[in-house]
Amino acid sequence: MTSSKIMNNLPLILIGVYSILATFPVERKCGSNMENLWLDVVLVVDNSEGMTNDGLAAISSKLASIFSPAQIGTNPSNSKTTRIGMVTYNSNATVDAHLNHNWSKNDGMLDFYPMMSKISEDSTSFVKYGLQAAQDLLLSESYGSDRSHYKKMIIVCASTYKGTGKDDPVPVAIGVKARGIKILTIAYDQGNNKNVEELARISSPGLSFKQDASIKQIQEALLEVNCFCPSTKWHQYRTPYQSYGTCIQPVNLPSTWTAANNSCHYLWNNSYLASEFTPEKSQFIIEIVKTTDKMDDAYHIGLLRIDGEWYWDQPCGRVSVGNYENWAYNFPSQSEDLSVGMAFKAIGDPLKWKNVEPLWQTSGYVCETAACDTDNYCDASFGDY
Ligand SMILES: *[C@@H]1O[C@H](CO)[C@@H](O)[C@H](O)[C@H]1NC(C)=O
Ligand SMILES: *[C@@H]1O[C@H](CO)[C@@H](O)[C@H](O)[C@H]1NC(C)=O
Ligand SMILES: *[C@@H]1O[C@H](CO)[C@@H](O)[C@H](O)[C@H]1NC(C)=O
Ligand SMILES: *[C@@H]1O[C@H](CO)[C@@H](O)[C@H](O)[C@H]1NC(C)=O
Repeated sequence: MTSSKIMNNLPLILIGVYSILATFPVERKCGSNMENLWLDVVLVVDNSEGMTNDGLAAISSKLASIFSPAQIGTNPSNSKTTRIGMVTYNSNATVDAHLNHNWSKNDGMLDFYPMMSKISEDSTSFVKYGLQAAQDLLLSESYGSDRSHYKKMIIVCASTYKGTGKDDPVPVAIGVKARGIKILTIAYDQGNNKNVEELARISSPGLSFKQDASIKQIQEALLEVNCFCPSTKWHQYRTPYQSYGTCIQPVNLPSTWTAANNSCHYLWNNSYLASEFTPEKSQFIIEIVKTTDKMDDAYHIGLLRIDGEWYWDQPCGRVSVGNYENWAYNFPSQSEDLSVGMAFKAIGDPLKWKNVEPLWQTSGYVCETAACDTDNYCDASFGDY
């Protein structure tokens, strides 16, 4: 190919790339705006002798950098706020700040240090008691309050890991996590990696960090904690590499496509029949359907045909079916009556799509909605928390 031919083709190639970006459906990502973080958090800081006052000051300033972009406290005109309580511990725990503490910012920066109990003369430190005090704070000040639907989180900053028998933190941690509270740990290593590994035993999956973790890494972890499904009936779409900002719910109630579409719309704020933009999403949905009691491997999805073209139904209108299509052999049928889509799995075959009549063929269905996150506040009045 001569260079002039390449030059002539370039504009066309660019138009091609542009239209792919413009029309191909993209799975919703979790919100990433720290200013809109909405969590109830308790900071749990080890202030035993070994931490030193310099160490405490360093921890305070790191935590302040992490949380400063967020709106701290409560605000009647803005739901996307974060409350922060503080606990220090050594051989026992002290509550330094309750969740409603009015943290002020100086030039946009929080300052946790003045409220923090200074270094103790106690050289023992049992993370169990810090964890327990943090849990009590959340139980008495977040659960049952008008913020009970806010995601709850405990951040433990510790240097030593001590505790066996009655001082073992693991059973407390298991109880905390079973309530849906996330535990993030930051290990302040004093020369041996053992503390880091042991502290990871109490953290939630993926939330164990070392002191050298960057502010951004920890903020990303907070944003991920803030990305969750409205209730346990919804399953957050995840791949081994990423969590997405969409939740799906299988409904095992034989219905026509039209009835299923209506029912999905009423299930939650902004919910609709599920979309399968990629093979990974198809696979994720089929795995969830498999674990749903008595649900067959066949379900309505948000495929519909308009003027001969296939679309996915979405809350913001509809998007064209993109570069992933998964039609069964001989489908889609051109028959005009078969204007909506369902997925099915014949025994031994992989999942495929076929088109059916909207008012005739019945099956279960799968609904989808946006996850609650920093872009999408979920109101407590709207469902079963
Ligand atoms: C617990 O901490 C308080 C200070 O907050 C202290 O006075 C008390 O002696 C401690 N108790 C134990 C059993 O260590
Ligand atoms: C929090 O403190 C600031 C001053 O530091 C004050 O202006 C503000 O009114 C306080 N907010 C509440 C809710 O008490
Ligand atoms: C799906 O349901 C919604 C809500 O009831 C309705 O507005 C919409 O028209 C339906 N779509 C189709 C293609 O029937
Ligand atoms: C419903 O969703 C819209 C748009 O995402 C949002 O603005 C609104 O606050 C939500 N309402 C509730 C009750 O969650």
